[in-house]
Amino acid sequence: MLPPGTGGEHSCGAKADVLPPVVERHPGSAAGDAVVARVDALAAARALGAAEIHPRLVYLDPPFAADRDFVYSPRQVPADASAACERVAFRDRWDGGLDAYLAFMEPILNAVRDLLTEDGSLLLHCDHRASPYLAVLCDRIFGLGDRGPRPRAPGFRNELIWSYGLGGSSPRAYPKKHDTILWYSRGSQWFFEPPRVPATSMRMRGQLKKAPDVLAIASINNMAAERTGYPTQKPLALLDLLVRAHSEPGDLVADLFCGSGTTGVAAARCDRRVWVSDQGADAVAVARERLLDLDVGVTMRSATTSASSWPIRRAGDRWHVAQIDDMPLESLAIGAWHDGCLDVSARWSTASAGDSSTAVDAPIQPADGALEIHGTVAGFSVRDAAGRAARGPLPP
Ligand SMILES: C[S@@+](CC[C@H](N)C(=O)[O-])C[C@H]1O[C@@H](n2cnc3c(N)ncnc32)[C@H](O)[C@@H]1O
Repeated sequence: MLPPGTGGEHSCGAKADVLPPVVERHPGSAAGDAVVARVDALAAARALGAAEIHPRLVYLDPPFAADRDFVYSPRQVPADASAACERVAFRDRWDGGLDAYLAFMEPILNAVRDLLTEDGSLLLHCDHRASPYLAVLCDRIFGLGDRGPRPRAPGFRNELIWSYGLGGSSPRAYPKKHDTILWYSRGSQWFFEPPRVPATSMRMRGQLKKAPDVLAIASINNMAAERTGYPTQKPLALLDLLVRAHSEPGDLVADLFCGSGTTGVAAARCDRRVWVSDQGADAVAVARERLLDLDVGVTMRSATTSASSWPIRRAGDRWHVAQIDDMPLESLAIGAWHDGCLDVSARWSTASAGDSSTAVDAPIQPADGALEIHGTVAGFSVRDAAGRAARGPLPP
């Protein structure tokens, strides 16, 4: 379970918690194992800090100051869907250029430093565009660490190179085939379990060796089963290695720019507790799906909705649900169900929403306390809740 405050209970109209409100809860292996929050990274860091929730590892994979938009192409597209399923997931454009980007990152990095456990670590994923500037910023915030005269001092520990192989070539320069992951420790002691990778020398053939600071891990190819269609998705193999090296089972691992939720999936698979958040609706929807596929208890949170105003009303034998703030309809419905605003015995079956900003009719069918939702979330079809609901009622 997460520490107090991360999986707070709400009744309809109840008080706010770390990030109001809990909008969804599934009876997975243990409810509250993972939190998926839709919230700006700085607000998330401050909310966690205010609630005294301290991750041992924070992995950040923010926009890279790439000056472009990134498009999400959902892999599961309903047969009747139009091409409109493809849409901008997030914008990586900065009025004011690099200065504006660094001004955005600085308070987040400060808040993350204060958030970590005393022996906790930040892993900051970036590339050639901002890595030297972010390193200078982090040196100031966390300390020089291994760069300075006292190698055990807090701060910089490693500059990891993620060598991903794939990518284009250029006649003008060496093709760029790597990202940089900056490792900073909050304190002068830090948790680290050296990861092991297959040895390449003839002498050690077939054995494992300690991973060097260059990690050769292929990026996700177009046919890979793990590909979600969310842009900039990182491979599970990379996050799996990092999570295991910088945290232990039971530790809280956080990612405040979670995108498709790769960090959460890697962490949940090796028994870490998870906080993943992102400001994008598509990102949290994809992250949530991936965690539920692991049968992890997921609590959804949003900084933009209020439990006292579930946009749900009953008229005759139908429920009407209005979309708010891009929050997936089913999250609203499950949240309202959990908070007692929706009849628990109702079997819920939404028609395809089409335009997700309009109200949706939800006919009630009798069922044995099960909640089932078939619908359209942010333009792509969902299959959810039926199997989970069948396992038993939501925890009290
Ligand atoms: C490079 S992607 C992360 C990809 C992720 N590591 C994965 O494996 O899918 C960056 C993410 O940062 C999110 N983002 C951008 N600005 C943000 C902000 N101010 N607060 C929270 N998330 C933000 C974007 O929505 C995007 O999902």
